[in-house]
Amino acid sequence: MLRTHTCGELRAANDGERVTLCGWVQNRRDHGGLLFLDLRDRYGVTQVVTEPEFPEAGAAADRVRLEWVVRGTGVVRTRPDANRNKDRSTGQIEVVLEEFEVLSASAPLPVAVTGEERSSEELGLRYRYLEMRRPEVRNALETRARMNQIIREHMIAQAFVEVETPILLRSTPEGARDYLVPSRVHPGSFYALPQSPQILKQILMVGGMDRYWQIARCFRDEDLRADRQPEFTQLDIEMSFVEQDDVLEVVESLVVRLVREIAGVEIPSSVRRMPYAEAVARYGTDKPDLRFGLPVVDVTEILQDCAFGVFSGAAKAGGRIRAIALGPEHPLSRKKLDALPAAVADRGARGVAWVRIKAEGWSGAAAKHLTDAEQSGLTEALGLQEGGIALFLAGPSEVVVPASGDLRVHLGKLFELRDPARYELLWVVDFPLFAWNEDEQRLDAAHHPFTAPLPEDVPLLDSAPKSVRALAYDLVLNGEEVAGGSIRIHQHDVQSRVFELLGIGADEAQQRFGFFLEALRYGAPPHGGCASGLDRLAASLLGLEQIRDVIAFPKTTSAADLMSGAPSTVDPAQLVELSLQLDVASPAETGNEPGDGIRSA
Ligand code: AMO
Repeated sequence: MLRTHTCGELRAANDGERVTLCGWVQNRRDHGGLLFLDLRDRYGVTQVVTEPEFPEAGAAADRVRLEWVVRGTGVVRTRPDANRNKDRSTGQIEVVLEEFEVLSASAPLPVAVTGEERSSEELGLRYRYLEMRRPEVRNALETRARMNQIIREHMIAQAFVEVETPILLRSTPEGARDYLVPSRVHPGSFYALPQSPQILKQILMVGGMDRYWQIARCFRDEDLRADRQPEFTQLDIEMSFVEQDDVLEVVESLVVRLVREIAGVEIPSSVRRMPYAEAVARYGTDKPDLRFGLPVVDVTEILQDCAFGVFSGAAKAGGRIRAIALGPEHPLSRKKLDALPAAVADRGARGVAWVRIKAEGWSGAAAKHLTDAEQSGLTEALGLQEGGIALFLAGPSEVVVPASGDLRVHLGKLFELRDPARYELLWVVDFPLFAWNEDEQRLDAAHHPFTAPLPEDVPLLDSAPKSVRALAYDLVLNGEEVAGGSIRIHQHDVQSRVFELLGIGADEAQQRFGFFLEALRYGAPPHGGCASGLDRLAASLLGLEQIRDVIAFPKTTSAADLMSGAPSTVDPAQLVELSLQLDVASPAETGNEPGDGIRSA
């Protein structure tokens, strides 16, 4: 080793030892003859100092600039009380340099690696390796490594077998677009990168592997947001001869353990369950943040005939009126009330009506239209209190239900009700099996096409498919979906019926998943599983909003890697080899190449 200790290791107990440290120069202070350098590595920061007694070391150290990589040897000296740095684990000591060498000089850095101020997102992503020198970025990566270790221990202890599945595959059905890889050997044919190992893990069950797990990379070409990356990592699990509860227990015991060991917070080992219908009714979403209350109440029945046209008109058109009550402890100024519609505009909601509850009479545009009976109906349904406010959304159900969820989250943020130190886990269960695709006027799989219906709902497959519930579940942590899964269909006939309802004809099913359907015919055990998005889970555990903060080399929202300049054009000879011709002008000509921003930066 080039060093005897790391920069995070030395304490007063090492006083008098001769040591060698290596690291980056994080700080340089020249106190007239005495030069202080802070050396940093992954483990911490240690102060080294030159003394006139060792002029060669002093001269060598004097040359260095910030972020140079250096090696220093000297004796550990306990600092006088007044000079101790209490914020640093090595703050009681310093090393008096006897020998010093520069291992590598550094050009001036294009991004800040210390201090509160972060550089722009674009620079940070381009110079990700420099951002990694920041403790918060390093901490995120170390946390992920610890999570992986805990996961590995947990899964092995429960007799799960880790199996690697291929990346070059056929298309898998998770509903996003595929990333395709052209085959050179089979001109005109493509591999698809897995959107998840879904089909393979089910086939592993047919193979008798019984309990499978893997930390799997998944690839989805979809619109990206703060909680989505084009490639991301799942803890993927599948189990044979199980019921829903068995899968939930494996996943929740692990997540509870991760919250304890990573976030240091003890939470109940048995996680609450809530039917999908209840989550949507009470919180306007299938991933409610339960760190705060403010439930949504449907008040359509109370207000459907009221004299306020916005409400009664919505009810008469078959829509709903949904309300959220705020107590006097959550006051809203007129300005804040006027800003509420912006929080729900994305959903197409036309506005947010409000009334203030006052002893001398209610106020607000709707108030004067409400009869005494309507007022007392609302007071009871919403638990209204004097000094409080009731907020209303009225309109088509598909608009006001999600809008009410957004409004609730907006209020949660506004009143700072989302305690970062709290971890509220929830299983949302009994999801619908199908989702209605309005554009194409057909049913889509709500989870994926291999999800089993609730046994008691199977007869509804023929009579009322939209109301069939599924043995599907999502794990929600503080309003983020951190895992999802289902019990699978293991009978060939039920699978064929579901394909039919999804408009996947026998030929198409054969063409897309023939190998899988065939596997189901050779003795498929009842099975089910789950996958947890580890990037989201890590971000939630660290209280970060963006999953890219917990990914070593993340991509931008346009799926570009600003560091390497991917995606990029390729050598025309490669296209020839792959039997491919482009029918677009080369990105370099159109100026659309993601790498361009980098070269000009
Ligand atoms: P699903 O599609 O629900 O299920 O994915 C499981 C979990 O993966 C995470 N996730 C993502 N994370 C980051 N970026 C993305 N683009 C992204 N998409 C999904 C979420 C989600 O809960 N094969 C099934 C699982 C199963 O049925 O066992 C599947 O992939 O946290």
